[in-house]
Amino acid sequence: MAAINRRFARRSLLFMPGDSMKKIEKAAGWAVDTVIMDLEDAVAQNRKLEARATVTQALTTLDFGARERLVRVNHVSTGLAPAEIEASVIGRPDGYIIPKAEDAADLRAMDRLLAQVEKQHGLPLQGIRLFVMIETALGVMNLREICRATPRLEGLIFVAEDLAGDIGCVRTPAATEVFYARSAVVTAAAAYQLHSFDMVFVDFNDPAGLEVESRFARQLGYTGKTCIHPNQTPIVNRAFSPSPEEVDRAQRLVDAFAAQQAAGAGAFTFEGKMVDMPMVRAAEKVLARSGARS
Ligand code: COA
Ligand code: MG
Repeated sequence: MAAINRRFARRSLLFMPGDSMKKIEKAAGWAVDTVIMDLEDAVAQNRKLEARATVTQALTTLDFGARERLVRVNHVSTGLAPAEIEASVIGRPDGYIIPKAEDAADLRAMDRLLAQVEKQHGLPLQGIRLFVMIETALGVMNLREICRATPRLEGLIFVAEDLAGDIGCVRTPAATEVFYARSAVVTAAAAYQLHSFDMVFVDFNDPAGLEVESRFARQLGYTGKTCIHPNQTPIVNRAFSPSPEEVDRAQRLVDAFAAQQAAGAGAFTFEGKMVDMPMVRAAEKVLARSGARS
């Protein structure tokens, strides 16, 4: 099974409309791990071509530092995706995002398009990464085949708003109405060694609400969260970085485990509680993530 790509921290992923050079410029210097330039729903129908040109220009001219650069294209069924990839690949984005992914065919179509441009442009084969947005009921039902469709796939993005529209449920702050799908996405991602990114929090003037939602997403196992406004990314970065106390405890646990193993004990008592292999793996995950701090 493919190992999770650790080149990018991917705690915060910030969306912006692809026709706004101003917003892309801001993101390129902002406290964000992944910049997502959008060509889909954040761009008006009559600005699609403008956005395509702006994203290509941004990719070729701006310095994004260590930030990951992704482009969300329109769904293959719109017929726009081939030209969007053909234009933007000149700027060597790190990957593309498929919106409204519903089955393996959606991913295979993108996979073929990417293989073609990699060949044409002399790029490393299979080098361009893919991410999918799970935002329909069918997408949730077909998670397994989506996760297995292509080795390019590195992450699943959960989208509550579109899903609510598709299902016909009413969005509430507690998000219990989408909890099944939110759990299904993070579980599928873990099963197939993919990253998982939680839904956007649309009220960008409510930092306390965002913090609560981000912490809960991390408790569920999500590896990062999508954002729609720059003031959200520092909160998300913090929520998805282990605290110094967590790192310290994880290190002590891993050290104690090594000592107990050497002495021939599998399960043992650590600070008054039973510890065995699953807790050690969780502690190792905390240590692995601790390299990424804002
Ligand atoms: N990315 C980068 N910069 C952004 C940004 C974003 N998503 N949202 C706002 N900004 C910038 C603004 O340009 C402004 O910059 P300035 O201070 O240099 O002038 C600053 O942050 C403050 O923005 P603000 O005035 O509070 O918001 P706005 O009215 O400009 O924009 C939204 C509000 C919702 C339209 C905007 O946040 C946005 O476009 N969000 C992303 C939408 C999107 O991509 N959706 C698709 C995925 S769900
Ligand atoms: Mg959507």
